[in-house]
Amino acid sequence: MQTDILSELKTIREKKGGLGSDDLREIGEKHGKNLAGVYSVSTFYTETSPAKRGKYRINICRSLPCRMKGMEEILSNLMDELKIGPEGVTEDGLFSLHMVNCIGACDSAPAMLVNDELFGDLTGGKVRQIIKDIRNGKGE
Ligand code: FES
Repeated sequence: MQTDILSELKTIREKKGGLGSDDLREIGEKHGKNLAGVYSVSTFYTETSPAKRGKYRINICRSLPCRMKGMEEILSNLMDELKIGPEGVTEDGLFSLHMVNCIGACDSAPAMLVNDELFGDLTGGKVRQIIKDIRNGKGE
């Protein structure tokens, strides 16, 4: 049942680019859950979260090994470059920035995912170049 809800949340999110309260309510009615219950399920996973997302979702790892290897500096560079904070979306809708737990790349910490692509051993210069490449169409 929970799997069905997650699957529906993901499908609607992909189709519409986001989830509104009407979507959550509709799914809840279908599965006998109230709005708060569906919201709680939806916010557990990034892929089903109602939060707005950019075309390129930057998920930066905030777990301890990445923090010890300079994640805060990387985050600061990303926020400066994108002019948004965590959970923000750039004005052009191209990027959104999200803080996530370990993404399984601790050996190349600090690390982040841009959609499904992994980037590790990040430096300030490297993240600026990644953003620049995507803006210049090399992220397609
Ligand atoms: S702690 Fe950051 S990828 Fe594992």
